[in-house]
Amino acid sequence: MVVEGGRRLKGEVEIGGSKNATLPVMVAALLAKGPSRIRGVPRLKDVDTMARVLETLGAQAGQEGSELHVDPRGLSKHEAPYDLVRTMRASIYVMGPLLARLGRARVSLPGGCAIGQRPIDLHLKGFEALGARIELKHGYIEATAKALKGARIIFDKPSVGATANVMMAAVLAKGRTSLHNPAQEPEIVDLAGFLKRLGARVSGEGTDCIEIEGVASLSGCDYEVIPDRIAAGTLLAAAAITGGSVSLRHGRLGDLGIVAEKLREHGLELVENGRGVRASMGRRKAPVHVTTMPHPGFPTDMQAQWMALMALTPGTSVVTETIWENRFMHVSELERMGAAVRIQGNSAVVTGVGRLSGAPVMASDLRASAALVLAGLAAKGTTEVHRIYHLDRGYERLEDKLTALGARIRRAQE
Ligand code: EPZ
Repeated sequence: MVVEGGRRLKGEVEIGGSKNATLPVMVAALLAKGPSRIRGVPRLKDVDTMARVLETLGAQAGQEGSELHVDPRGLSKHEAPYDLVRTMRASIYVMGPLLARLGRARVSLPGGCAIGQRPIDLHLKGFEALGARIELKHGYIEATAKALKGARIIFDKPSVGATANVMMAAVLAKGRTSLHNPAQEPEIVDLAGFLKRLGARVSGEGTDCIEIEGVASLSGCDYEVIPDRIAAGTLLAAAAITGGSVSLRHGRLGDLGIVAEKLREHGLELVENGRGVRASMGRRKAPVHVTTMPHPGFPTDMQAQWMALMALTPGTSVVTETIWENRFMHVSELERMGAAVRIQGNSAVVTGVGRLSGAPVMASDLRASAALVLAGLAAKGTTEVHRIYHLDRGYERLEDKLTALGARIRRAQE
């Protein structure tokens, strides 16, 4: 991606559906007996990969525009192969529905990735509590259960993936399940909304205890996923870093939560109206510390973008990462553009500089790519962000959206 920096962003763009809400929802569609129509689905590499995963299980999944149809009637296979799981860790989500529908699941152990180790012990403990037998064989996790039975499960820590996976298994289990210390992210609330639309009995989503009363079967439904709060946060950060003003159709301040508060503290004026969110950068640019935490804390998926913003903010700010142990790979790339960042353990002390200068840089993961694009928008000269395929996993046509807002950005042949 080639970015010519120095233009204030201005105008209106639409926020598409959330990647991290779509992925579990499309898998949860396997729990039903009939087909589901999921609307507001973004066009993304990860959604395509998940559709392929569903098809290897015998289901059908096809996307037309922003609509995705999942037909689970052919669901018959219980294995998610290594080739797919290694390209997208969220494939592990199929375990819950496979256990619930077929009584068995064989899924490749995902392994680590650029941002950290990414263990799945909490998913497995949850399934065991519901009565599944878990074995690790040849790099695959094999789970079997004659019949899942509701249980009281206390998670060691809130995990988005484990909460979603165990919730999906429990909706068809016999009896009552309670999940304590679950993830409270808006994407979990959205998944619960979808499960309820299928006929599941779920309550307490978005709080520290989710209760599920198992039902015998579920039917397909029609559902629209929530807008992507991280895509919205990224575009608001783009407005802030370029000193611009943008409107996001379908943006929701409620879902942005602490990100909106931190942006306001930094100096971005934000208002929500019937159409979405309007943002405009004022004169003040304050350094603001953030520490990533499970929701409602500051999302780790906005940490890299925040650091790009702080790199150009006068004063010192501290950005602390507590979710992933290796999510500072963007730091050395930002430094190549002139940022002044000192890493101390899991904190980055950022001293704002007056100017960044465009440079060739390398993206290491999805959100790091976004951070480098943001830095490029504000830098003097040209920035080339390499390995941009990371961006396509989770941002729908980001360069088109930024172009519509007046940025000079284009995809070059690599
Ligand atoms: C989800 O990953 C998101 N992915 C990630 O977004 C996001 O960074 C993460 O939640 C945290 O918000 C999807 O929704 C598809 P977790 P997930 O289980 O579910 C530890 C992006 O950029 N943990 O909530 O894998 C884990 O090590 C991506 O869009 C265990 O110890 O994250 C981490 O420290 C990247 N054991 C913490 O919990 C487990 O069994 C939170 O992880 C599971 C997790």
